[in-house]
Amino acid sequence: MASTIGCVTLTLSLVLAVLFALTVQVFYFSPIDPLLLEIPPSVFSISSTKNNKLQNVIKLGEGLKQPEDVCVDKDGVLYTATRDGWIKRMVRNGKWENWKHIDSSTLLGITTSKDGGLIVCDTSLGLLKVTEEDGFSVILSQVNGSQLIFADDVIEASDGNIYFSVGSTKFSLHNWHLDLLEARPNGQLLKYNPMSNETAIVLDDLFFANGVALSKDEDYLIVCETWKFRCVRNWLKGINKGKTDIFIENLPGGPDNINLAPDGSFWIALVQITSERFGFVHTSKVCKHLLASFPRLFNLINSATKSALVVNVGTDGKIIRKFDDNEGKVISFVTSAVEFEDHLYLGSLHSDFVGKLPL
Ligand SMILES: *[C@@H]1O[C@H](CO)[C@@H](O)[C@H](O)[C@H]1NC(C)=O
Ligand SMILES: *[C@@H]1O[C@H](CO)[C@@H](O)[C@H](O)[C@H]1NC(C)=O
Repeated sequence: MASTIGCVTLTLSLVLAVLFALTVQVFYFSPIDPLLLEIPPSVFSISSTKNNKLQNVIKLGEGLKQPEDVCVDKDGVLYTATRDGWIKRMVRNGKWENWKHIDSSTLLGITTSKDGGLIVCDTSLGLLKVTEEDGFSVILSQVNGSQLIFADDVIEASDGNIYFSVGSTKFSLHNWHLDLLEARPNGQLLKYNPMSNETAIVLDDLFFANGVALSKDEDYLIVCETWKFRCVRNWLKGINKGKTDIFIENLPGGPDNINLAPDGSFWIALVQITSERFGFVHTSKVCKHLLASFPRLFNLINSATKSALVVNVGTDGKIIRKFDDNEGKVISFVTSAVEFEDHLYLGSLHSDFVGKLPL
């Protein structure tokens, strides 16, 4: 009898000790200081307008390692940066070339530069310039004396200024899920002036600053706030110069990259961190702390459904067209969409090709 009670007490103490240790681990050593976040209800994402149009993509350059972003230069050469550090390109005749290699596994947004070559975001090294003649060089690696981490997407204005987003000033690319769970505005939109070698903050406190685009007349900039399912606009010219407003909100997914279309509208790739999958996460801090401590649980939720979605948005902030692959049968996790000569070129973090869709 006495020994049974002793045994039960011992077991109970052990269980309590384990629970206590777990609680300390999960809450006191939590890497995040989370906020609750309201995201648009799923009615926006599970609308009747599923069309699976993205299942018609032609696969270009199979074997590419996570081609996140794509861009096309004035000669019609298509570029993409891959996870193994290659800038690969497809020339007019459809042939792929391994163009330049950067010793990095953290390349993200790319854009063409007006004096030739590309500007590339590397979330570890900073902003890079890649040219035919010189290979790659670092343009900007520090901001205010600290290392520039998580440069995400970039665009060059015709006056030479370079606008770029910083996804998170707190977490690295590898820990992007912690930034999502924290749901605090850790992102920025910055401007680098290569003539004066100065960097300034354009917008601070963004909820994961992602894609950046300039309007056709360069009178405003748009930056995507992925966690908030919206894009904000900052005016560079005209009576609203310096002002910021919301360009589009309640998007049916988290906006990733945004690109100007030839007609002045925009293509936005939307990642499916929607309320069906993440709604419950954003309503509970306990849940957030738990997921922050157990990345495998997070990955389970994140990979539960596969789909791809891109939208074409007019200058009035209204959706014109919407293309999806609802079950991700052919392409999923589309992160960028670029229109060129009546085709849409799609980058993706889950595919090993660039998708080409006739428009
Ligand atoms: C630009 O400024 C940074 C410090 O912010 C400095 O390290 C760098 O050498 C400067 N580059 C040029 C070309 O002056
Ligand atoms: C650099 O630091 C100064 C002083 O704290 C601040 O006013 C400025 O906005 C910072 N610039 C950037 C690009 O972070």
